[in-house]
Amino acid sequence: QEDVFKKVVSHAKEYGFIFPSSEIYDGLSAIYDYGQNGAELKNNIKQYWWKAMVQMNENIVGIDSAIFMHPTIWKASGHVDAFNDPLIDNKDSKKRFRADVLLEDYCAKLEDKAQKEIEKAAKRFGDSFNEEEFVSTNPRVLEYRQKQKTILERLAKSLTNNDLADVKSLIEELEIADPDTGSKNWTEVRQFNLMFGTKLGAASESATDLYLRPETAQGIFVNYLNVQKTSRHKLPFGIAQIGKAFRNEIVARQFIFRMREFEQMEMQYFVPPGTELTFYEEWKQKRLNWHLALGLGNENYKFHDHEKLAHYANAAADIEFKFPFGFKELEGIHSRTDFDLSAHEKFSGKKLQYFDNERNESYVPYVVETSVGLDRLFLAIFSNSLKDEVLEDGSERTVLSLPPALAPVKAAILPLMKKDGLGEYAEKIFDDLKFDFNLIYEEKDSIGKRYRRNDAIGTPFCITIDHDSLVDNTVTIRDRDTMKQERVAVADLRRIIDEKVNF
Ligand code: GAP
Repeated sequence: QEDVFKKVVSHAKEYGFIFPSSEIYDGLSAIYDYGQNGAELKNNIKQYWWKAMVQMNENIVGIDSAIFMHPTIWKASGHVDAFNDPLIDNKDSKKRFRADVLLEDYCAKLEDKAQKEIEKAAKRFGDSFNEEEFVSTNPRVLEYRQKQKTILERLAKSLTNNDLADVKSLIEELEIADPDTGSKNWTEVRQFNLMFGTKLGAASESATDLYLRPETAQGIFVNYLNVQKTSRHKLPFGIAQIGKAFRNEIVARQFIFRMREFEQMEMQYFVPPGTELTFYEEWKQKRLNWHLALGLGNENYKFHDHEKLAHYANAAADIEFKFPFGFKELEGIHSRTDFDLSAHEKFSGKKLQYFDNERNESYVPYVVETSVGLDRLFLAIFSNSLKDEVLEDGSERTVLSLPPALAPVKAAILPLMKKDGLGEYAEKIFDDLKFDFNLIYEEKDSIGKRYRRNDAIGTPFCITIDHDSLVDNTVTIRDRDTMKQERVAVADLRRIIDEKVNF
């Protein structure tokens, strides 16, 4: 698994998808830049989400609010007081960890042990193996699962009560060690706020302390009445937004999975009080279906209902995806109640009520949100699509089988050679199709090498221009996935490409 992940990281760099930020200065931890292909793929993912959320839903509109916001917003939202992670240092290695992640990793290992027992038994019993019965009766599996449950419940309770001493006791009782050095010499656990601070204004005495937003959601909350009044939507209605968010993550690891600067695609759905849990269930399902439609494999997704709720939620679930390092959170769906809007009423002194004609009363709406990390989704799609294939003739190829609608380049225009007028003919095809599709034109290297390069960036079609093209206005079009080549009329190219890459 580690090798698969290494391959993902190196492929992303080698083919212009993702570079470490400030690389010539040795990089900046957990910050990344998107290269020429990465930027295209990311933009396509954004459009795909925007279309599904804003364009296809009559009652959802999109906005783009500023990253800087009035500092009181973060007081009202609870982020100044509660947007913390529990931090612990190892006294010997001087390394810093998230205490909750140490415990979650410990539980993941217990689950691995349980899975091994299940696999062993499945092999032993063959066709007669009944997994459900086995996991509910096997003493070892039951013990591993019960232990995980006890640990996670105690962690959730300690964090809710801010009982950090108990989190440390738990780490000590389980004899958890620094994974690299084996040292069990821990400091106390303390809370660490994840917001980045900055200043507004030139003169340092009068400058105002600001935060870089840790979520895009608050820009939607503080604008909800502006949008409601100008769009004239009745409840339920939604506001969507794509934008940067910043978190000073304690442990930044796993490439673009956990970054300090990242992008979120969020939608806040405003509903009458008392109906929120129905809409919560509805959005959980809708968002899962949206992910499944990408075609990365239904078995790679699962829900994880939260036991430990964020300070604003009365129900919350994650859609988890099977990344190369295991199932991890991809998207969060949260029933945020009226927590945010009521807090903003209180802190701003402005009424944020909605008048409901049918109920004939005013109230602060409840909110169900869907929040997916764009970079995390990028990683899910990218890592799932990267494949090494052995071909029939025994040779190998690396292919990035991205959903065609998301591929950075839709077709490569490849004259077999530049001379004999093939170059000019190919350029004409390029100029004709470039208004509709992002294309590349390549005339260097053998055609086989050019095919492989385009497989590696996920280009759905390679179009080859040869001498016959000049005679009968046909070209060969090669399909990335089947590698089959077909001779088609140049006049049909637009339709053929469009049928495959449109969404
Ligand atoms: N407004 C709700 C909210 O921000 P969250 O669960 O903290 O909820 C939502 O974040 C999503 O944002 C996550 O599911 C994840 O995909 C993404 N995300 C959060 N922190 C991230 C980070 N440090 N790097 C990359 N993506 C992150």
